[in-house]
Amino acid sequence: MKKTELLKILREAKDYISGQQLCEHFGVSRTAVWKMIHQLQEEGYKIEAVKNRGYRMRKIPDVITAQELVSRLKTKWMGRPCLYLEQVDSTNNYAKKIAEEGALEGTLVVAREQTAGRGRRGRSWTTLEDVNIMMTLLLRPKIRPDSASRLTLLMAMAVACGIRKVTGLEALIKWPNDVVVDAKKVCGILTEMNTEIDYINYVVIGAGINVNQKEFPTEIQDTASSLCIALGENISRAELMAAVMEALERFYEIFLKTQDLTELYQEYNTLCVNCGRQVRVLEPGHEYIGTAVGINKNGELIVRRENGEQTLVYAGEVSVRGVYGYV
Ligand code: BTN
Repeated sequence: MKKTELLKILREAKDYISGQQLCEHFGVSRTAVWKMIHQLQEEGYKIEAVKNRGYRMRKIPDVITAQELVSRLKTKWMGRPCLYLEQVDSTNNYAKKIAEEGALEGTLVVAREQTAGRGRRGRSWTTLEDVNIMMTLLLRPKIRPDSASRLTLLMAMAVACGIRKVTGLEALIKWPNDVVVDAKKVCGILTEMNTEIDYINYVVIGAGINVNQKEFPTEIQDTASSLCIALGENISRAELMAAVMEALERFYEIFLKTQDLTELYQEYNTLCVNCGRQVRVLEPGHEYIGTAVGINKNGELIVRRENGEQTLVYAGEVSVRGVYGYV
């Protein structure tokens, strides 16, 4: 934990911090401070050490280790503890495993590399290590199992808000839970849960965010992109993850008051790219066109059909596409 705090101090310092100040702050010897600095340098942090002045952070590597993330977290409990894995089959699988073993609500699993990432509807999710985010959050909400799918919408809101805060990009949500920038998908979310008839054991919400990926295979170039492509510069993944956790903590606590989106659906609708647009609703064996009005407090999409009738669309059963393309 000391290293986490040292990172925070060095990152936030406007000037050099003397070795003496650090010794006093941590109550340790100069050698112990120097050792911690040295460890950070080994991990890729460029820390300048100047005689008679002290230490100064020159460059922070784009790492998403637990210490880097925790040193940036401003949450009370969301994203804590954070478990960082060099390689895993899927962060969702890992989160489910530790949930079975009793891991705490708010635990965040982050991986540098996923070897069998999973997407919605049984698809796979292939993503690049070191440039993108693969993370899964564990929740244990005391709500009815049929309310749990709404949590996915909260994560979509949190990712969109986090992206906006850190990059200034106009991130939007394609209902129910893809996050898009410039009409292309930059984040996918996969929520899974373990429930009894009337009780939720746990929910895991996995998010894959394309952050610093520079190119996409031709087959998906029209529908997928990254924040770096949209912004024209690299983004700190740890800063983005911390911003997402902060937003999610706020949304989740609001959600728990009513177990629905009564106090959140308006904000969701301001972020929803489909609102006011024509959508093609693809139900199994049937499709129709209408105008998306927005979601209601249950998270269902209200679609006005061409005959003026309003239909409620439930996530999970159907896909919604833009009439002219992905959105
Ligand atoms: C989608 O199909 O849009 C959802 C993609 C979800 C991918 C993320 S990456 C982290 C987490 N682990 C997984 O195996 N899947 C999710």
